[in-house]
Amino acid sequence: MKHLYFFLVICAAAAVLAGCAKRAPDREQVNPGEKIVIKFSHVVAEDTPKGLAALRFARLVEERTNGRVEVQVFPNSVLYKDGEELTALEENKVQLIAPTTSKLGEMFPEMQLFDLPYAFADTAQVHRATDGEIGKKLAAVMGKNNLLPLAYWDNGFKQMTSSRRRLIYPADFYGLTFRVMINSKVLEEQFRAFGAKTVQLPFNEVYQALASGAVEGQENTMSNILSQKFYEVQPYMTISNHGFMCYVVLTNAQFWNSLPGDIRKILEETMAEVTAWERKKAEELNDRDLAKIKTSGKVQIHVQTEEERKIWKKVWDPLYDRFAPVVGTDLIQALRDLQQQS
Ligand code: LMR
Repeated sequence: MKHLYFFLVICAAAAVLAGCAKRAPDREQVNPGEKIVIKFSHVVAEDTPKGLAALRFARLVEERTNGRVEVQVFPNSVLYKDGEELTALEENKVQLIAPTTSKLGEMFPEMQLFDLPYAFADTAQVHRATDGEIGKKLAAVMGKNNLLPLAYWDNGFKQMTSSRRRLIYPADFYGLTFRVMINSKVLEEQFRAFGAKTVQLPFNEVYQALASGAVEGQENTMSNILSQKFYEVQPYMTISNHGFMCYVVLTNAQFWNSLPGDIRKILEETMAEVTAWERKKAEELNDRDLAKIKTSGKVQIHVQTEEERKIWKKVWDPLYDRFAPVVGTDLIQALRDLQQQS
């Protein structure tokens, strides 16, 4: 009996010790002085591909570093809006942002490659660009100004919307004012080629401009059209898939390189994992959000035909040559080659 008692006590002690060894250190035990805080600022809603991926990244990083790193996510332009984010990152006031490639077009004109109309036929082609030579070349371009690109995230293909009329032919755009994302000359010229006027607006000001009628149309992805309620004030939509909205997750190079090696490894591995997840999620949300917009009954949706696409394409094709000196002939050629491959 006595032996059995000792045996049980020893088993219980061993179990407690084993449990301790496996248990993650209590997050509250992380010394506040040792805690690394990463601020991730973005402009979209939480229930969007970028919004959800930012939250997932934050959760996984906290778990995997046992609370040593806290990623604070600020959605909806609450911390910095378009036009402020990049400076905030350069000044290390935030450590992660994920703007569209278009919004980097002033600082890095080469990024406007993504804005060339009908640059990509499908997402597989987008990924061949971002994950291949084009992505590498652009990453090298962005590696200046103390910025460090960490990943390319998807949103989806952009569609045209308007409050005035259906947008089937280039002439339907004539005289209307369209909102374009900040910093991209290609996007302005895309609309001007159809005789439309453009106004560059930060994302957080778009709904109000559309609702007031000051701006009559815009281009965006399903998740943004739904989450920002653009569909409530834009009764006409053309599914044209004429451009792909891609994000670059950027950090401040000096900050990133100052992180302990083990922490940086966890962050980079988690970023790679979340990137794969985000891309799947983006496809899923675009389908889901198109279905929601359809169900709302508020939008007349026109799916562009192959014939109509050819007409738009013909008007826009000269933009490739026109922007070759801006974007770089080598990058335009790389895109042309990619387009031929599939
Ligand atoms: C927009 O400004 O329309 C988008 O780039 C917002 C975003 O980040 O998806």
